[in-house]
Amino acid sequence: MYYSDDIIEEVRTRNDIVDVISGYVKLQRKGSSYFGLCPFHNEKSPSFSVSPSKQMYYCFGCGAGGNVFTFLMEYENFTFPEAVKALADRAGMELPEMEYSEEAKQQRDLKTAVLEVNKMAAKYYYCLLRAPQGAKAMEYLKKRELSDETMRRFGLGYASQYSDELYRYLKQQGVSDALMKESGLMSVNERQGMYDKFWNRVMFPIMDVNGKVIGFGGRVMGDAKPKYLNSPETIVFDKSRNLYGLHIARTARKKYLIVCEGYMDVISLHQAGFTNAVASLGTALTSQHASILKRYTDEVILTYDSDEAGVKAALRAIPLLKTAGIATRVLHMEPYKDPDEFIKALGTEAFQERIDHAQNSFMFELSIIEKSYDMKDPESKTRFFQAAAEKIAGFELEIERENYIEAVAGAYQISFEGMRKMVMNCLMQGVPSRREPRPVKRQEQKEKDSGILTSQRLILTWLTEYPGLFATVKSCVKPEDFSDTLYRKVASMLYEQLEHGEHNPAKITNYFTEPEQQRIVAQLFNTEVPVENRAEREKAIKETIYKVVEHGITQRSRELDPTDMAGLQQLIDAKRRLQELKKLHISL
Ligand code: UTP
Ligand code: MN
Repeated sequence: MYYSDDIIEEVRTRNDIVDVISGYVKLQRKGSSYFGLCPFHNEKSPSFSVSPSKQMYYCFGCGAGGNVFTFLMEYENFTFPEAVKALADRAGMELPEMEYSEEAKQQRDLKTAVLEVNKMAAKYYYCLLRAPQGAKAMEYLKKRELSDETMRRFGLGYASQYSDELYRYLKQQGVSDALMKESGLMSVNERQGMYDKFWNRVMFPIMDVNGKVIGFGGRVMGDAKPKYLNSPETIVFDKSRNLYGLHIARTARKKYLIVCEGYMDVISLHQAGFTNAVASLGTALTSQHASILKRYTDEVILTYDSDEAGVKAALRAIPLLKTAGIATRVLHMEPYKDPDEFIKALGTEAFQERIDHAQNSFMFELSIIEKSYDMKDPESKTRFFQAAAEKIAGFELEIERENYIEAVAGAYQISFEGMRKMVMNCLMQGVPSRREPRPVKRQEQKEKDSGILTSQRLILTWLTEYPGLFATVKSCVKPEDFSDTLYRKVASMLYEQLEHGEHNPAKITNYFTEPEQQRIVAQLFNTEVPVENRAEREKAIKETIYKVVEHGITQRSRELDPTDMAGLQQLIDAKRRLQELKKLHISL
């Protein structure tokens, strides 16, 4: 944390969240909250809420949420300290000089140092490619039809055939072994000690949005395996948050971004004038990638390889992009494998034409679903249209549904009315809406399906809405009963506040400086169940508490060491209390 907790909290309380957000979004009062159109995804009816009592915002459509700092970080693309600074200015507050904690200072220094080492290495590789030793590598890149200008723009280089050249060079420059290890540029083994990770490869520096070198990919110049070696994750290199080529693509000012699979695809596309191309490097697109893309565009053209793996990757990416509020179209490259090959064979104009004809992602998904049905068999064919109708019924807006009914009817030459009736039937039977909250990170996903996380969130939400529940809740639900580390941390902070008669969810959010975490915290305090009246709500609360306690017991007994007698006794007590919970009466 850069500023002290007190300062941060003061800045926050001096900036009413409704006032601040009103400057960006038109808000209307509805009950105890304000609603407006979510600025973080496309929507036609307001599901973006701002709560004056919680001093938090939350979108029931896309799951964006947090406190006033989060809002500025997401909307203005500010870092946490920048958001604090902007809001301090807004409130006319003087901020003290940044107070770096010792730990924060060390982290920052280490980051700077690693970036510096990366830069030295990139320069070293860059020069080597252009030196006599690099002739073979240069020839390879020329054979792949890269111009000098392209190689310069992407900072391409060469790691020589000796496995200690970079090591010796960096050593000579005064870089310590520890720092070299930290940079991911070295491998270590007992026999050889430390040696270069990359040798005899053409080198692709990977840059962050600001053009800082955060890692490398290195390609063999033939058919050896592995084809590419990549830097491991380091203090500056997080694969799930970085997209290759984004530092250039973000300034391309095109309506859409092109997302492809590999280094060479990005480079070829840029060389052909498609400077809006990026790649998620060798890893599947993540929800973090999607929200980063959303900062720069509302539309993505997916140009994944045309093989089976590419299709699978596209099917995974589409819903992630959709929940981030990005419309996706899928570009077909057949008969070529990837954009690099396509452009080499058919050139820029042909590629632009494929972009113009890229397929709507829904129709793409449908065409894949179609493959598992025998369209010559009337029964199977009917089931396919049933599946299509269910998918269409998941769209929130009537006009959207109508458009897709029309598209499907047209594409498969069936009657519009017939398809419409099928969709209507699905709607009557209540098909779950497509408006799922944004996908949560992997570690939290484990328990997603059982609904237990929702129950745990409900407890935290209710505690802030009805602090009177605390006495009951704390006697049976412990912070340890929450399944996820982040949930546990938030629960113990909230318990701590409630012990002192305070409940201030926005303050708790301050402790998390990553927007991703803040979003989860916001979700924790903004979970709802549909209830008609107070009696139903009281019943829901009772059932939820029961469910969470029961789950906590199951979890503890699974982890219990059989020789732990005290633990066993606690478990028995907990089970007894669970029985008592059945008689519990909640009154709000
Ligand atoms: P591809 O195999 O499609 O490579 O992998 P490419 O980009 O078309 O490269 P060329 O044209 O054969 O030179 C796509 C991406 O997956 C990652 C790399 O980021 C690559 O660009 N990858 C692939 C690896 O990390 N390691 C590998 O061994 C292969
Ligand atoms: Mn390729």
